[in-house]
Amino acid sequence: MVRIQIINGPNINLLGKREPEIYGNVSFETYLETLRKQYPDVTLDYYQSNVEGELINKLHEKGFSYDGILFNAGAYTHTSIALHDAILGITTPVIEIHLSNVYARETFRHTSYIASACMGSIGGFGLESYRLGVDAILNSKNLQ
Ligand code: DQA
Repeated sequence: MVRIQIINGPNINLLGKREPEIYGNVSFETYLETLRKQYPDVTLDYYQSNVEGELINKLHEKGFSYDGILFNAGAYTHTSIALHDAILGITTPVIEIHLSNVYARETFRHTSYIASACMGSIGGFGLESYRLGVDAILNSKNLQ
């Protein structure tokens, strides 16, 4: 069975309540149920933390055995060399995920410290960005 780890960073726990005009009004837990039904043959594990070091620990823990990691690093995307290094240090391919189109927003969001360490980046499609990420991992392994 294909195993994909989803990792969400700071403030994504507030999805559904947080700035709904940008991020929508559905919680990640609710969306995850839908996503799991769409991919019954894929193990989709989920982790969220607001703490940078815990995100690094989770990348280290899953990053040598899983088939892919979908990583929405939230605002740490724009600040964290440590997350960049953590992604480089593991062997599992990581896809950078964003709900919003960060390039259509404030200029401080136009820089990603993690993009160059990732297999690719998907953003701007709301929660659908995660489903596109699952497809990208499956396609890269010729599994669909
Ligand atoms: C985000 C974009 C980031 O700039 C922001 O800090 C977030 C969410 C997104 O999914 O669109 O927290 O990663």
